[in-house]
Amino acid sequence: MAREFTRVGVVGLGTMGAGIVEVFARNGLDVTAVEISEPALERGRATLTGSTDRAVAKGKLAEADRDALMARVDFRVGLDALHEVDLVIEAVPEHLDLKQRIFAELDRVCKPETILATNTSSLSVTEISVATSRPNQVIGIHFFNPAPVMKLVEVVRTVVTSADVVADVEGLCARLGKVDVTISDRAGFIANALLFGYLNHAVGMFEARYATREDIDAAMKLGCGLPMGPLALMDLIGLDTAYEILDTMYRRGGRDRRHAPAPLLKQMVTAGLLGRKSGRGFYTYERPGSPKVVPDEHTPVAADVAPADGARVVAKVGIGHARSELASPAVVAKVGIGHARSELASPAVVAKVGVVGSGTMATGIIEVFAKAGYEVISVTRGAEKSAAVCEAVKTSLNKGVVRGRLAETDRDAALGRVNWSATLEHLADVDLVVEAVVEELSVKKALFASLDEICKPGVVLATTTSSLPVIDVAMATQRPADVVGLHFFNPAPVMPLVEVVRTIRTSGETSATARAVCAALGKTAVVCGDRSGFIVNALLFPYLNDAVRMLEASYSTADDIDHAMKLGCGYPMGPFELLDVVGLDVALAIQRELYLELREPGFAPAPLLEHLVTAGYLGRKTGRGFRDHTNR
Ligand SMILES: NC(=O)c1ccc[n+]([C@@H]2O[C@H](COP(=O)([O-])OP(=O)(O)OC[C@H]3O[C@@H](n4cnc5c(N)ncnc54)[C@H](O)[C@@H]3O)[C@@H](O)[C@H]2O)c1
Repeated sequence: MAREFTRVGVVGLGTMGAGIVEVFARNGLDVTAVEISEPALERGRATLTGSTDRAVAKGKLAEADRDALMARVDFRVGLDALHEVDLVIEAVPEHLDLKQRIFAELDRVCKPETILATNTSSLSVTEISVATSRPNQVIGIHFFNPAPVMKLVEVVRTVVTSADVVADVEGLCARLGKVDVTISDRAGFIANALLFGYLNHAVGMFEARYATREDIDAAMKLGCGLPMGPLALMDLIGLDTAYEILDTMYRRGGRDRRHAPAPLLKQMVTAGLLGRKSGRGFYTYERPGSPKVVPDEHTPVAADVAPADGARVVAKVGIGHARSELASPAVVAKVGIGHARSELASPAVVAKVGVVGSGTMATGIIEVFAKAGYEVISVTRGAEKSAAVCEAVKTSLNKGVVRGRLAETDRDAALGRVNWSATLEHLADVDLVVEAVVEELSVKKALFASLDEICKPGVVLATTTSSLPVIDVAMATQRPADVVGLHFFNPAPVMPLVEVVRTIRTSGETSATARAVCAALGKTAVVCGDRSGFIVNALLFPYLNDAVRMLEASYSTADDIDHAMKLGCGYPMGPFELLDVVGLDVALAIQRELYLELREPGFAPAPLLEHLVTAGYLGRKTGRGFRDHTNR
């Protein structure tokens, strides 16, 4: 019989503690909520009140239930108030000595049978447990932020935690409506071990001015479907907490450089920029504790600029989701923070677009341009391929009609805007060429050399490469300033993101034009430098590779790891689900590129990934990857 908990204690009512109190009280448990001082207690109470009031306002909680919830919480200063609780969970700052002191005190104050739990993200539960005389009753209960929302709880058992205690806590999680995964005591457990390298990498990108905060966040939200971008998530976690977690993971987790906190983090913490809780972190918030971002001096502002040559030109400074319901391609440009003044260059007018290639990406890109009102010339390597691409575009447009997303007249108009050709010479008078041929540098370079001969001056030459250096392609022409990367995501008609990749030779006008075109297509453009993986792949694939390493080390199962990322972090798919969809060969190739370019030891492809690829287990496309898809 699992133990019945009636009164629990929570120590520390900060970002996590206040949320944990809410979870317990919502589920009918009486809670003694403890803080270190009266002002801290009032802050904790205000957080709980704010959160439950918001739930009432959103219709997610009845007023009477909110009142009953609040009545179940006894707010107290000092640990002595905890002498009657059945379980206590500690959520004080991430410092081992502080937690050990608190556990020693809890051991003294609490009943002998009370379970003592820590919400630590990265510290050793074992080291915390030995500060008590009952290490077998000490356990990790790792909630996710925001605790009332995120479904996952990681239950961390040490080598001495008794099996009964584990079972009791698992039963409690079920009562709270949470899904638990039980794991052993390792730095970062499942989710944070996979999350924090990624977060730190994103901070490093921002610190190096590789891309703006808005662009990094938009890239991960729109490119991967994540609920928040990494910098917004850092603000939610709290930069001081994130710093401590990284620092501990670095020291406990084998000194992986990727966990060495980015220097900017330390500076921000020292300056009191802790994220939402202090009202300012990577972004600025309405007030401390508020989730509402308000504009600050780094916020891009929209401003109309004088039309270039009669065309409608809207310049947006910084990120913005430009409207696409423009009848004819309007010209929209935006400028991000931290970008050189040349970014203020006016975009050129683009009306006629050439798309070279006959694969999935080329097909999708033709459709996107034609639907947005551009005149398109599709160039393939022969009439047969052109016919196939034409058929594929028609099929896709027809699907839009069947699903009621596209009027028949718009489908016909879009198709009417496309000319099919097998001759590059037909690109002599286009304003933009988008190359989407095979991912081989020699092929792309030869193509760009030809385009250089054929196209009129001032044309923007764009490559959709996802892994090759854009500068290599640019230098195959005599006009590298006009060459840019336009990294569309698959399927291009659906995915809202385009990475605009500027090389060190790309002119301000070229990138302004590229961004203007993306906006006119209804896509969000994010601007980044010409580094392997750009923003999305550079942040996504090392995380996937880390998940493979975790599986390889038998720390957890593919199912639990997938669960942890979906339910703990709100990811749309777990890493193994995603790897099977993307293709293990594709993932391995990207990971190899990242490793070769950045020489980061932590980016070395996981041997298990290599073995699966060698064995032909490439994911869904071959029926087997991390999972067997043949009978699903
Ligand atoms: N922030 C997150 O996203 C997150 C997620 C999961 C787990 N955690 C873990 O939860 C724990 C708390 O992190 P946080 O982000 O809530 O920190 P926080 O800084 O927001 O809150 C800590 C709270 O503890 C209180 N406190 C400090 N000393 C105390 C004492 N002696 N007695 C009682 N209260 C005391 C502080 O006044 C503060 O309100 C850490 O171990 C952290 O790693 C954090």
